[in-house]
Amino acid sequence: MNVTVAGRTRAYRTVTFDDRRNAVCLVEQRLLPHRFEVVRTRRYRDTAQAIRDMVVRGAPAIAATAAYGLAQGAREFRGRDLARFTRQVERVYRTLAAARPTAVDPVNAMNRVRCAMRAGATVPEQQALALAAAQAFADGSARECQALGQHGAKLLRTGMRILTHCNAGWLACVDFGTATAPLYVAQAQGKDFHVFCDETRPRCQGATLTAWELAQQGISHAVIADNAAGHLMQRGEIDLVIVGSDRTLARTGEVANKIGTYTKAVLAKRHGIPFYVAIPLSTLDWQLRRGCDIPIEERSEAEVLGAWGVTRSGRREYVRVANPSSHARNPGFDLTPPELITGMITPVGIFRPGDLWECRQALRPRVGADCSLGQKLGLARGGGFNKLGGGSGGVAKW
Ligand code: MRU
Repeated sequence: MNVTVAGRTRAYRTVTFDDRRNAVCLVEQRLLPHRFEVVRTRRYRDTAQAIRDMVVRGAPAIAATAAYGLAQGAREFRGRDLARFTRQVERVYRTLAAARPTAVDPVNAMNRVRCAMRAGATVPEQQALALAAAQAFADGSARECQALGQHGAKLLRTGMRILTHCNAGWLACVDFGTATAPLYVAQAQGKDFHVFCDETRPRCQGATLTAWELAQQGISHAVIADNAAGHLMQRGEIDLVIVGSDRTLARTGEVANKIGTYTKAVLAKRHGIPFYVAIPLSTLDWQLRRGCDIPIEERSEAEVLGAWGVTRSGRREYVRVANPSSHARNPGFDLTPPELITGMITPVGIFRPGDLWECRQALRPRVGADCSLGQKLGLARGGGFNKLGGGSGGVAKW
């Protein structure tokens, strides 16, 4: 999306890759809205740390970061020994997958990279395939967000007041956003509407990131305290809720998203307000059968007991808010059941959450698409592709 800093406007993606330096480039989200900066991670361990520390956050954004991180780790390997290389790739995969456990997107993205790598017969071939697949994932993810924006924009009319939670904007994705993509498309269509951004304690992604994004795009908005949504709904001041998701179970339609989403869904149901969840296909978990099995990240109690802000001199500082001797619980996500969700906005259309499994033909990314990257790069010759189980036989389970 376009970013205007000190009067200069430039298009950015949240995550990109610097091929020459083997570095992942990330918009440093902890500094926003006060400072816009792009940072580089030069080794896969630093990339994993950036995910853990939330330099980059949001399920599709950490998915692209993990995909690039896997390619980066593969390219850090020196030598020609394929068995040692494979062990290194496994280490990189596990480190990146463990960085943040709730979102399924990073695992789905890395599985696609690993699947594509199988078409390579040598270390350099597999390294090249890893980067091509990571790039393909990032490009595809941006396209999917754009496409879901087109479908979601049909729900918006001039005069509407929309509530969103956390940041499911372009900063949470490679580009365009999930919950915000319909807003950007509707704005381009000339529709005029107002957005309420839940502040989203404890890290305040709504007050800092979503509000900054909407301000950058010139969309009318206001930040509200997390506890204010019920009051506004009761007064008829909210017409529609759109949120994102970190993991949606295709089998059950259960949605894991930022803590507080469930509360908003209950309130929306109580007041008869449509509640939509916008997702790219990488957010769908095709394996898990029960929402209660989703690993819910527990973060540091310091996030609840205090807050980050910027002093008058521009220094970023943490202040303790809570009683000094008190402790806190800090679950990062919650689970919204399908009966509270009106529809799932996806790149291929809007579905009822209970219909996701039935519609898997349309929603499941074409298995094997990434595995055929080797053919596209001309690596299928010399028996490498077939020998290593490319094509339908070498398809990764995901
Ligand atoms: O902890 P975060 O900031 O990474 O959590 C992100 C979210 O939960 C977002 O709300 C979002 O809907 C998922 S990313 C589009």
